[in-house]
Amino acid sequence: MKANIIAGLDIGSSSVKMMVARKTEDARLEVLGFAQESSSGMRKGAVVKQDEVARRIAAVKARAENVSSQKIDEVAVNLGGSHVFVTSSRGVVAVSRADGEISQEDVDRVLDAAQAFSLPSNKEILEVFPKEFLVDGEGSVKEPVGMRGIRLETEVLALCAFSPYLKNLTDAVLSSGLGVADVVPVPLATAEAVLTNQQKELGVAVLNIGAGTTSLAVFQEGDLLHLAVFPVGSDHITNDIAIGLRTEPEVAERIKVEFGTLGVLKGKRTEKIELEDGTTLSFSLKMLSHIIEARMKEILGLVAKDLKTISKQADLPAGIILAGGGAKLPKIAEFVKKEMRLPAKIGQAQGILGPQEDPELLEVMGLVLKAARNTESVPRRRMGAVGGGLFSRLKQIFQVFVP
Ligand SMILES: Nc1ncnc2c1ncn2[C@@H]1O[C@H](COP(=O)(O)OP(=O)(O)OP(=O)(O)O)[C@@H](O)[C@H]1O
Ligand SMILES: [Mg+2]
Repeated sequence: MKANIIAGLDIGSSSVKMMVARKTEDARLEVLGFAQESSSGMRKGAVVKQDEVARRIAAVKARAENVSSQKIDEVAVNLGGSHVFVTSSRGVVAVSRADGEISQEDVDRVLDAAQAFSLPSNKEILEVFPKEFLVDGEGSVKEPVGMRGIRLETEVLALCAFSPYLKNLTDAVLSSGLGVADVVPVPLATAEAVLTNQQKELGVAVLNIGAGTTSLAVFQEGDLLHLAVFPVGSDHITNDIAIGLRTEPEVAERIKVEFGTLGVLKGKRTEKIELEDGTTLSFSLKMLSHIIEARMKEILGLVAKDLKTISKQADLPAGIILAGGGAKLPKIAEFVKKEMRLPAKIGQAQGILGPQEDPELLEVMGLVLKAARNTESVPRRRMGAVGGGLFSRLKQIFQVFVP
């Protein structure tokens, strides 16, 4: 794999997507190829049958290598499923230097201290995001190094997951013959692709509506504030259509993609589609959009309830940025705006030259962007994911396997 080649792997409930990009001389990212395979062995965003998933990854890798004319050895991959969750925690240490000047070592120690809480068995911390530091009780400190004090505290957001699902994911990638460069919990890759720093400062949510899951990440003052994955997605709409119109899921999927819309249509217009056996199925467009709206309302209800727990249901000035295949329903932004009473729009990828218009590809584009950032030689010194988190630990583990 050439040094300037980057790859992202989005393992979703309905499809496995791989994107290959090249870092140009002026440090931009140019997409060289994309491949997609239908998923198998996944349940609501989590890898449940490793071997089946590994086969799909191997297939998508072969096709992505082919279309991009590049050899791919390692990928940044996402971790999905509603087993991914966040929890807040605090840590306190005494500043070590006699003159009270806070060093990077103090910061590392206080972040370690904040991770020393007990999790239920089989759960582990993936990454910690410091929300703020407190120096001698004074809060809202973002960069404590160089300040003076006796006591350093921090409040962090710890991103956690069910260990067996994490292991299933990494094992599936490894046994497909790829190394793991990074594991990014959903929908942080999407956030990487679509959010601007200004939106993150103001307060913004990214909502990725996938096939089996809908994932939410909320940012404020530049930092991750909250993350949740709900086990409901656009495939549930398909199932509802299948039941409502008394047809097969495959037919319902075609109807959803071809005729589905939000915003109930007036009148009694009917449509029909031809089935494989030569017969036709007629249905009312009004009924179809009622079915879709009912399920979308339920999904947004879960999101609203969750935002309420962090008191953000009415306080996100930069609104909700939509992504995922489920966001391809016509009029979705208007619908979300009305239901959530917040600004809403479909996300667009930034910092990468490629198919920015397709919301279904934003997660994989974000993975490419994450992978590119990880290879940057200049280390980032700002708030955000802390070193020593999942990425570096995985690196240590996978060095054994990566060719
Ligand atoms: N034009 C469209 N209109 C409505 N829905 C669509 C459209 N195109 C795709 N979808 C739906 O989007 C979903 C696939 O989206 P996506 O690829 O983001 O999911 P995934 O990543 O495989 O799943 P997950 O993230 O839940 O694990 C499917 O349910 C599909 O029916
Ligand atoms: Mg997805």
